[in-house]
Amino acid sequence: MERADPNTMEEIRFCIASNAGLSPPEWVLQARVKQRMAALGLTEISAYADRVGNSSELDQLVALLRVGETSFFRHRAQLESLQTSVLPTFHKHGEPVRVWSAGCASGEEAYTLAMILDKGLARNQKYHVLGSDISPSSLEVASAGIYSLNKQELPSEFHRYFVPVRESSTDQSAIHPDIRDQVHFDIHNLADDKFPASFDLIFCRNVLIYFTPAAKKRVVEKLVASLKPGGYLFLGYSESLRGVKGLKAEGAQGARVYRRATPQSQQPSVAPRQKPAPIASTPGQPANAPSHQPASTPSTQRLRLSGEYNDGKRMAIELRSVISLDCPTIEVLLDEASYLGSEAAEEMQRALAANANIVFIASRSGHLRFLRRHGLLTSAEDKR
Ligand SMILES: C[S@@+](CC[C@H](N)C(=O)[O-])C[C@H]1O[C@@H](n2cnc3c(N)ncnc32)[C@H](O)[C@@H]1O
Repeated sequence: MERADPNTMEEIRFCIASNAGLSPPEWVLQARVKQRMAALGLTEISAYADRVGNSSELDQLVALLRVGETSFFRHRAQLESLQTSVLPTFHKHGEPVRVWSAGCASGEEAYTLAMILDKGLARNQKYHVLGSDISPSSLEVASAGIYSLNKQELPSEFHRYFVPVRESSTDQSAIHPDIRDQVHFDIHNLADDKFPASFDLIFCRNVLIYFTPAAKKRVVEKLVASLKPGGYLFLGYSESLRGVKGLKAEGAQGARVYRRATPQSQQPSVAPRQKPAPIASTPGQPANAPSHQPASTPSTQRLRLSGEYNDGKRMAIELRSVISLDCPTIEVLLDEASYLGSEAAEEMQRALAANANIVFIASRSGHLRFLRRHGLLTSAEDKR
């Protein structure tokens, strides 16, 4: 494919956002468009954009964008946090622990969770895992529970949950029946209104990255409503929660887990905690030079960015100064930034995933478009 003309890619992006509510990361969109162009024998992106206007090609592209890349024991840091911080809270649970892997693709995530629960919970503690996805063909693979594995890639203490498939000429393994019996699969579209309820734990990873910010917010609110009070929600690394009430973030960056507030934890706190103002950057000054910007109110901290952000490095350094602040609103002001590149956007997404109180603020139309394109706007800004 020729280097994609940004305007043509924007047309394609607009088409999939308005018709399917999807907002994939730039590299995913580029890769899928390239794949479709090769299948159609097209070399001009503009010719492909014309085809996307026709509904059958749009359906093909949307289906490809929803393709489920997945694996067993994906994102180990999160799974470790599940084992060390969450499972102990399920001891003496009484009722079966209810878990949902939403957007489970071919089932690896749902089975991984079942194995971790089986190993980590008390012997007589029951659990059930629901795996759901929009794709019937993925769910067929999930239900069969047979995989070609590289066991080297699995933690050795979990090898016992796989059994070799004897009649298979290839090297395939089946999920152990003890685990298989605790997991069931069902078709479910996260864009639907009806969600299953009363879960202790929900994993919805690497699914929301494809949704527009408004659709993402709706899904997250419904996921939260599907949790029991005190229940846990895990999202993918680059998926952040913002503007969702009744959720508390716990754990370090990369292993972040959100917890639905219990009625007790929703009581107003006695006194708001005061925090030092974050480092603000000014042109010509090293990003981490300590130049303080007074907070507009004790509950708001501000970081003013200026100059060029071509790659992620500078953005990462600057955002580091606010990522760990415990303050209800952290405003990152962008209007003085002269350029914002896509790698900078990735760092901004990471910062949001780490601290849901960060709000990126811009009034310049180019910057607003940038924020919207990368899913970095709050819902209020999104309406502008
Ligand atoms: C990249 S996979 C993620 C699989 C797994 N959660 C993981 O992190 O390994 C994304 C999955 O989301 C599913 N998906 C996309 N849109 C969906 C929707 N609206 N409702 C339910 N599932 C959806 C896709 O079919 C795909 O299987």
